[in-house]
Amino acid sequence: MAGAGDFGVRDLEPGDHDPVQSLVAAAFAQADEAELVEAVRRSGDVLFELVAETAQGLAGHILFCRGRIETETSSGDRFRETAILGEMAVAPDQQNSGIGAALLHAGLTRLDDRAEAITFVVGHPDYYGRFGFTADAAKPFSCKWQGPAFMARIGEPQDWMSEGGFLHFPEPYDRFE
Ligand SMILES: CC(C)(COP(=O)(O)OP(=O)(O)OC[C@H]1O[C@@H](n2cnc3c(N)ncnc32)[C@H](O)[C@@H]1OP(=O)(O)O)[C@@H](O)C(=O)NCCC(=O)NCCS
Repeated sequence: MAGAGDFGVRDLEPGDHDPVQSLVAAAFAQADEAELVEAVRRSGDVLFELVAETAQGLAGHILFCRGRIETETSSGDRFRETAILGEMAVAPDQQNSGIGAALLHAGLTRLDDRAEAITFVVGHPDYYGRFGFTADAAKPFSCKWQGPAFMARIGEPQDWMSEGGFLHFPEPYDRFE
C-alpha cells in the first residue's frame, strides 16, 4: 500500500466526472458502482459530492444524495426528505491512509452546517461506526437493505424521528438487490 501523502478535499467539479468514474470502478473492481454514480447524478437527487486530490490526481470520492422517508398518517402517506451517504471510494493504492476518513469528516461537517436531521448509509458497520453511524439510530426506519449494514447518524434530533418510516433511495438504487 502506498501512502497517500498530502491531499486536499474539495467540491467535485464537472471536469472530475471521468476520473471519478475510473476511480470508483477501480475501488469496487467492477463498473456497476461507477454507473450508479452517473445515474444518481442524472436523477437530480445528488446533494453534493466531494473529492480528495493529491499532486498525482484524484484519490477519493464521496457522494451524498437525497432520500425520502415514507410514513403512514391518518390522512395518507407522507414523504420527508433526508440525506443518504450514497457512495464513497478511495483509489486502491491509496486506501487505509486516512483519505476516506477525511472525505467523511468533510461531508458530515457539511451536512451538520445544513442542519440535516439524520443521514443514512448502507455499508460496513466497523467502518461507518467510527463516524457516528449506528444501526440503533436507524432502528425506527426500514429500507430495502435491512440488517446491520443499515445505519444512521443523527445530526439535529427531531421529534418525528421516533415515528420512523420506510426510506426510499433515489431510483437508480432500485437495480441493486
Ligand atoms: C472503504 C473505503 C472508502 C475506506 O477508505 P480509506 O481511505 O481506505 O479508509 P481510511 O484510511 O479512512 O480508514 C482506514 C481504516 O478503515 C478500515 N477499513 C477500510 N475498509 C474497510 C471496510 N470495507 N470495512 C471495515 N473497515 C474498513 C481499515 O481497516 C483501517 O482501519 P485501521 O484504522 O484500524 O487501520 C475504501 O477502502 C474503499 O474505497 N474501499 C472499496 C470500496 C468500498 O468498499 N466503498 C464503501 C462502500 S460501503
